[in-house]
Amino acid sequence: MAQTWTPNSWRQKPIQQVPDYPDLAVLDSVEARLAKYPPLVFAGEARRLKSALANVAEGRGFLLQGGDCAESFAEHGADTIRDFFRAFLQMAVVLTFGAQQPVVKVGRIAGQFAKPRSSGVEKQGDVTLPSYRGDIINGIEFTEEARVPNPERQVMAYRQSAATLNLLRAFAMGGYANLENVHQWMLGFVKDSPQAERYRKLADRISETMDFMKAIGITAENHPSLRETDFFTSHEALLLGYEQALTRVDSTSGDWYATSGHMIWIGDRTRQPDHAHIEYCRGIKNPLGLKCGPSLTADGLLELIDILNPANEAGRLTLICRFGHDKVAEHLPRLIRAVEREGKKVVWSCDPMHGNTITLNNYKTRPFERILSEVESFFQIHRAEGAHPGGIHIEMTGNDVTECTGGARALSGDDLADRYHTHCDPRLNADQALELAFLLAERMKGGRDEKKMVVNG
Ligand code: PEP
Ligand code: CO
Repeated sequence: MAQTWTPNSWRQKPIQQVPDYPDLAVLDSVEARLAKYPPLVFAGEARRLKSALANVAEGRGFLLQGGDCAESFAEHGADTIRDFFRAFLQMAVVLTFGAQQPVVKVGRIAGQFAKPRSSGVEKQGDVTLPSYRGDIINGIEFTEEARVPNPERQVMAYRQSAATLNLLRAFAMGGYANLENVHQWMLGFVKDSPQAERYRKLADRISETMDFMKAIGITAENHPSLRETDFFTSHEALLLGYEQALTRVDSTSGDWYATSGHMIWIGDRTRQPDHAHIEYCRGIKNPLGLKCGPSLTADGLLELIDILNPANEAGRLTLICRFGHDKVAEHLPRLIRAVEREGKKVVWSCDPMHGNTITLNNYKTRPFERILSEVESFFQIHRAEGAHPGGIHIEMTGNDVTECTGGARALSGDDLADRYHTHCDPRLNADQALELAFLLAERMKGGRDEKKMVVNG
């Protein structure tokens, strides 16, 4: 029998990745304050996302989830948000065309602040300090003061999330996301890309489709769906005191919702079935993500699915697979088979970032070829298993950073030092993110043509 769930029942469970706050009374008072602040998102929006994800789980859509590894206070600004949104929407249009299905757009944004770390301490030379755990917890500067967890940062993170969300809502609904704009930006990207020839074919077909729609009178003026877009937020629900403070009862359904973001996910390091993070997440009704890494067994996954989605509701659970380009073939098939065998309804998504991190010239980086290779394997394996490759989950920015190597501009290890700005893991820059979308769209189309040949042949 499942035990009674309350927003604070996680406090009775063992927990990983907890910051060492020096003054718990201050922490309590901050959490009490946050508990009185307005919710950042509404339950009805989370339900809408869940039903969009239910379509993906049933094979009728594709999930695009992406954004910073860690949002930072320093990089907070209108331009950063706009540039991210712009790159993200272009990816979504390209993928919509490639998949010939609706793309569900979910940002790692407006709340993605807390980071799990593989080590509790960081060593530089002879100095050892507590690790940086994300701006919501402590500071990135390598000093003793900065690394002390400070509860007031949670209020800053809440306010930054509110401001970010406000601008994103305005962009999504206020005309900026107009399909014609996105189309023009995309053409600009193709024109400037060293791989222009390769991408032009797909871009031209999108342009023709746009012209055709215009010719028959479908325009942004008479079709709101062409000038507005649905955009949702997500983050890792790591800092449970903060999540609890923003957990509210939805007055229409009487259910509990996390109101810190539309979707939240459980990290690969905190998915122990009898621990705090799973306990918190099982009781809220939002769509959930679960990171699946190489150490997850098929039985372990089925156990987690039963805890997190006992009613087997489509759209509730997205399995975010992050094995590494060289490990995905070993691990993914056994998980897909177990889930299919038990008839569990999930969205399968591919995070090609977290299993492909290497160190080059003292920088953490990710080679673009390996990222692409993991996504390709993910698609092939799903096709072979007769399952739906439902989405991708990436770390990206709209800015021209040099954090991941490769891509059409062939960034090398020597380029990393130029504009390496991430507060945690290396992100695809805007061009690399769009390239990934183009390369995937090509392959999605290829996969459909193959299927047709099988059906007709
Ligand atoms: C992340 O998504 O930034 C992350 C830490 O992922 P994972 O839990 O899969 O390592
Ligand atoms: Co990361």
